[in-house]
Order: sequence, then structure tokens, then C-alpha cells
Amino acid sequence: MSVEEIYQDMKAKLHDVVPDFELRYKAELAVEINRLKVEKNAVILGHNYMEPALYYSIPDYKGDSLGLSRKAAETDKDIIVFCGVKFMAETAKILNPQKTVLLPAEKAGCSLAESITAEDVRDLRARFPGVPVVTYVNTYADVKAECDICCTSSNAAAVVESLHSDTVIFVPDEYLARNVAQETGKHIIFPTKIPKAGVRSSTDLDYQIIGWQGRCEVHEKFTTEDIANVRAQFPDVVILAHPECSPAVVAASDFSGSTSAMIRYVEETSAPRYLLLTECAMGDNVAAENPDKEMLRLCSVRCPHMNQITMEDTLNALKYNRYVIEVPEDIRVRAARSVERMIAIG
Ligand code: 13P
Ligand code: SF4
Repeated sequence: MSVEEIYQDMKAKLHDVVPDFELRYKAELAVEINRLKVEKNAVILGHNYMEPALYYSIPDYKGDSLGLSRKAAETDKDIIVFCGVKFMAETAKILNPQKTVLLPAEKAGCSLAESITAEDVRDLRARFPGVPVVTYVNTYADVKAECDICCTSSNAAAVVESLHSDTVIFVPDEYLARNVAQETGKHIIFPTKIPKAGVRSSTDLDYQIIGWQGRCEVHEKFTTEDIANVRAQFPDVVILAHPECSPAVVAASDFSGSTSAMIRYVEETSAPRYLLLTECAMGDNVAAENPDKEMLRLCSVRCPHMNQITMEDTLNALKYNRYVIEVPEDIRVRAARSVERMIAIG
């Protein structure tokens, strides 16, 4: 597509969201990115949190963590450029050891992935022998390598149920674990850092999910007070919360699901206005796709990691082959088992 065609395409969707001069500038970047993408036989995967101009111009596939993991597993391209954060790019590499995986911003991390180490998981295993470990995909490869199966926000309850185990260890997102416990009717505890009385066997346990106190620095900020205030001002608003929000926030909302589930919910329902309790850029993307529906935003809450991925850096990623994601082979092989097991569940 030419600059003019991309500009017109973006304008059709984003004229109410992004100023015209910015669309023209972004269209020029998009043409260059798309040209290099073809020249280098690359695929661009874009998470739902990408800023609107990027989201609507360069990704071959857009989606949530699970959807993009699936696309990463299926691709036959030589290079995967991941417009998302590091744990997502690492998951793509885990599934594609022969391919080059590029993350446009070297330091695009995640507070959940930072909250737990491989040693922490080994310690939990030693304290609760025989208990299967589920790890949220928002973790680094060495943590995935220590667990039995991964999950994302769209299949967490199904993954826990699939284990047919009385007790599971679920790390590292405290709120997601609490929400899954509620959904599956399981009882949850959070072990203290120092075990009180030696090792217990799984048959001694009177609880069913053993959690960890990691938090998403974005979703933990939403409160039930925010919800009450918005409902008082807009009584007809429909509120959607990501399951990384607290159980109280999820309970006070009308729907909870992964980023893609939220997008589908807005598309398939017909309320006059919606509030998305998640990264703010997604509200812009959903608004662009649903011009007849009003999106309220809480835009003081941004993900500083997702926000690092820009079109300029994506262009540089393709130009200079950077930043290359590497995962040591022994870790990759063990992490791949957990990711592939998850993908098979759906
Ligand atoms: P999804 O898998 O729902 O897209 O969530 C990823 C994420 O990082 C949410 O903050
Ligand atoms: Fe991590 Fe939260 Fe950002 Fe998602 S929104 S990448 S969970 S810090």
C-alpha cells in the first residue's frame, strides 16, 4: 500500500482519535515498516494495547497473549517482530527456536514478570511437593521452565480445571489467582515467605490454590470507588474489567475477560457507552472499531512497558535487526513444554 492508501485507511478508523498531521507522519512510517517486513520475510504481531496508529497499520495479527502465542506457533516467516512486551516476545522465541524474534524496545518489561524468579518456584515446589504449578504467561522463560503448564487471562480457569488436582500452585498474579479461585469455587491461600512448619505433603492441604503476591501495576490501580463514581455519572455505562483487576473490581463490573474477550464483548453487545478497566490505548482501538458506541477512558492509568513500543522503534527493529530475543536452549526446551501444553488446551 502507498502512503496515501495507508493514510486514508487510518483516517477512516482514527479520524476522531488521532490528529490528522500525526496520521500522515505515521502513514509514512507504516509504509517503510511494511516494505521492510516483506523484504525481510517478517511477520509483525501486535498486542491489543498498541497505540492506535501502530495497531491499525502494521501488525499482520493483533490479539491477546493467547491469540498471539498461537500465531507465533503457526508462522512460517523467518523473523517475528513482537509489538508487545518482553515476556510475549520470549514466548514466541520459546515456540520458534529457529526464527529470529525481535522486540522493538529492549526494556519493555512487566511488573508481574518481575515479581517472581525461577528460584521462588523451586522453593514453592520444595514446600508443596507433588502440587502442580500453573504459571501465568506474564513471566520470563526461566520461570515457565520450572512450571507444569502456563495459562493466560483467557484460559486460566480452564487450565486449572484441566489438571484435575485437589491443589494447584498458581503464580504470580495475586488478583488473577483470586479471580480464578472464585470462578472455579476453589479456596486460596498465600504462603508466607518463611515456611512455618517444614514441608507438608499435598494430601495435608485444606486449601486448593496456593497463590503468589505479584500485581499488575496497571490493573491494581482500578478501585470500586472509580466504578461507583462512573456509574453515578453515567448510569447506563457497561463496565468491563481485565481479570488482573482485584476481585472486588471484577465483582463490581459487568464483564471480565482477556483483552480480546473485552473487544468481542463490545462488538457483540449494544450498550450506548462502555468503560474498559485496562490499558488506556485499548479504549482508543475499540472506539475506532465501534464508532456508534461511546468509550469512557481512565487514561491516567497507562502501562509504561507497552507504551515503549513505538512505530519508530519498530522500524529500527527491522532496519537494524534489534533487539534479538534469546532463550538458553535448556530453559527453552522446558518452558516450551508448559507453553505447548497450554496452547493445546485453548
Ligand atoms: P491479555 O492476555 O488479556 O491480552 O493480557 C495481557 C496483559 O499483559 C494484560 O495486562
Ligand atoms: Fe504487565 Fe500490567 Fe503492563 Fe500487562 S498491563 S504488560 S500485566 S504491567
